Amino acid sequence: MNITIVGTGYVGLGTAIMLAYLGYQVTGLDSDQAKIDGLRAGALPIYEPGLEELLASASANLHWTTSYADAIPHADVIFICVGTPPLPDGHPNLSYLESAVRSVAENLDGKPQIIVNKSTVPIGTGDWVLRILEEHAARHAGSRYEVVSNPEFLREGTALGDSLYPDRIVLGGSAWATGRLRELYAPLIEQTFEAPPHIPRPRGYMQPAVVETTLTSAEMIKYAANAFLALKISFANEIAGLCECVGADIQEVTAGIGLDHRIGTPFLAAGAGWGGSCFGKDTSALISTGQDYGYSMPILRAAISVNDRQRHLVIEKLQKHLRLLKGKRVAVLGMAFKPNTDDLRDAPAHDFITRLSQLGASVVAYDPVAMPRARREWQHLTYVEAASAQAALHGADAVIIATEWSEFRTLNWSEAVCTMRTRVIVDARNILTLPLQVPAVLEQIGRDHPRPS
Ligand code: UGA
Repeated sequence: MNITIVGTGYVGLGTAIMLAYLGYQVTGLDSDQAKIDGLRAGALPIYEPGLEELLASASANLHWTTSYADAIPHADVIFICVGTPPLPDGHPNLSYLESAVRSVAENLDGKPQIIVNKSTVPIGTGDWVLRILEEHAARHAGSRYEVVSNPEFLREGTALGDSLYPDRIVLGGSAWATGRLRELYAPLIEQTFEAPPHIPRPRGYMQPAVVETTLTSAEMIKYAANAFLALKISFANEIAGLCECVGADIQEVTAGIGLDHRIGTPFLAAGAGWGGSCFGKDTSALISTGQDYGYSMPILRAAISVNDRQRHLVIEKLQKHLRLLKGKRVAVLGMAFKPNTDDLRDAPAHDFITRLSQLGASVVAYDPVAMPRARREWQHLTYVEAASAQAALHGADAVIIATEWSEFRTLNWSEAVCTMRTRVIVDARNILTLPLQVPAVLEQIGRDHPRPS
């Protein structure tokens, strides 16, 4: 099977490189010429652990182009992985998707071709894509196509492991089309490929479940999954606030409830709340879809408002100890929305820096990989870059740990804290272990009352 991937963002690139690694001939298409030129030269436009190595090992099977005429006619399966960024009203912007689908339609060949929606698209989009294709087919007799929804569940930072060893593969569409995709994914479903040395098969991993369903249910599965994960985090954050009131420790509480297999521990880490390109966008999109039908979604609204509250809470914790922030120097450790990525979308650090500047504080920020991207994307923010975490803390009145990069966990805090002007630490990711070896004020989320030793 020949494969074409339209859109080389996080999802498209990961999918293209993974399928090429499994042995397929894959053409990656993007309208951004600079991106394609870079990829042809072996340069990745994003930071994702292990992707560079996998790209190198699969490069013989990969072809990059900006031309639909080159990429579409020979393809048996066409994955659409273009971005669907949020519009101000919460609905996703589908203009990239529409233009991609129209360009695909112009170049269909007449043999049966499968168009797969991998982008997270609003419920009902698969049918809308079909209508665009039908409209086109009415003018160009002979094109034969099917649309499948095959949502992506990978996380940035662990994208390759998630792609090679998924929990499940969801396929929504006709029996014929989902059957063809089952064939395509056979090496993954049966786990017959040789695991790349740098992304070993997790211990105990067997194989993914395959869910074959309708287009619309597949689309719903993706949104409902993200909404549920977002909800888990907000639930943990809401309980964390009550833990602070009553003197309980959220880490111990979530560990305790997570042992019930119906609950499970993942995605119960309390802290600055979720960020990134998915949870905020997808929960808002789901609420908007409900609104289109006059249907309210109070649980999701509550999850979003708890998440917003977490970001304010971090600044309030600083104010509790520093009082006036005007003229104070605050170090922000971590800019990416989570560790192991350079993605800055909806990162809590963005809101911290914005608010601190509004309050008259000066900000020194440091991130192990996201600083070059921040130089381009955060030009509207006022902050000074530090060369290291230690350098950021030097002379600061306070520090906010915004992202739980492992180098912040292993930093020699006792030493670094001694170089601060006043020692206020707001650990918004609960990564520091108590007690600290030096006198300092430490604020965490939901665990301000450590058990007396
Ligand atoms: C998320 C989902 O986890 C993926 O399954 C999905 O494919 C993806 O969205 C998507 O729709 O494309 P991602 O946004 O890359 O993946 O990152 P996550 O690891 O899910 O983290 C999301 C946010 O939640 C981060 O800001 C993280 O810091 C936060 N988080 C996560 C918590 O605050 N607490 C937790 O316990 C877990």
